[in-house]
Amino acid sequence: MKTKLVSAAIIAAAGVTAAGSAAAQSDELVLYCSVQEEWCRAMSEAFQRETGINVLMTRRSSGETYAQIAAESEQPRGDVWWGGTGDPHLQAAQEGLTEEYQSDMLEQMQDWSVRQAETSGYRTVGIYAGGLGFGYNSDLVTENPPACWADLLDERFADDVQVANPNSSGTSYTMLATMVQLMGEDEAFDYLAQLHNNISQYTQSGSAPIRAAATGETAIGIVFMHDAVAQTVQGAPIVAVAPCEGTGYEVGSMSIIAGGPNPDAARTFYDWALTPEAQEIGAANNSFQIPSNVNSETPEAAPRLEDITLIDYDFALYGSSEERTRLLERWDADIGSLPQ
Ligand code: G6P
Repeated sequence: MKTKLVSAAIIAAAGVTAAGSAAAQSDELVLYCSVQEEWCRAMSEAFQRETGINVLMTRRSSGETYAQIAAESEQPRGDVWWGGTGDPHLQAAQEGLTEEYQSDMLEQMQDWSVRQAETSGYRTVGIYAGGLGFGYNSDLVTENPPACWADLLDERFADDVQVANPNSSGTSYTMLATMVQLMGEDEAFDYLAQLHNNISQYTQSGSAPIRAAATGETAIGIVFMHDAVAQTVQGAPIVAVAPCEGTGYEVGSMSIIAGGPNPDAARTFYDWALTPEAQEIGAANNSFQIPSNVNSETPEAAPRLEDITLIDYDFALYGSSEERTRLLERWDADIGSLPQ
């Protein structure tokens, strides 16, 4: 694989020289990354090492990256959006902000990854999956630990729960869409309004709440279970919970930005990012999602989807432009406006 990629980069570079064109600058890639900073950096460095293509990476949460790509659509600056929850990738696809591409690597992907590609008309693809849940600090919660979504409403957790804002964070939007699917929409907003009494802070990034729980700043963080596990693996007193009522999950995704400055480098990155070698960089950098290539090794610490009671999350609906926009507007009106 290494040899093949390196030669692909050389061929691409030769193409630039032969055409004498400054337009196809395949020696550079502008990467918008929406996973943990550590993993974003390791991916950028590994790709740069493999191909010689210089990576300019910025890390932002999923909702923020979607908004940035939408804002830049007249003059796109990014080439690839790698990582982050699938719903805003699907919204970007529907709005034509991302490019159709059918990689040869698709045949090596898990069904849930291919479904994501099909749903979007091949404008995005699943790169990892993980279940939503929460984690609690076992030094702070020593009795009757929460096991269900309903338990998070308990008065003893007043001002001791954190979750992100669903506008910026894909994790939090996944929670919003999960509650709507689990309970029905009005009941979900009712639950979120009650939960608001226990929320000390709506963070910008999805995983910030569990980092706060790890340091004892809050007792409970609502996050993807793999983000809770990442804290446990690093020695924090965090216990990951799969909520008893059932829960949603993410298909973390990757998309090529339409009209980006380096389309050749974008496709080279896309194909490479779907290889087992690239996907296994996650576990080496404290990220414990389920990788989408069937040949990638699933990290031992990764919470298995089979062990979690999962809802049949409707990605097509909750990743649609209309539904995501509508639910976020209702969240702003009904929850975001409540006094802290
Ligand atoms: C963390 C998780 C990823 C998830 C991402 C979403 O990095 O490990 O699995 O896709 O959060 O981030 P956001 O800040 O948008 O919630």
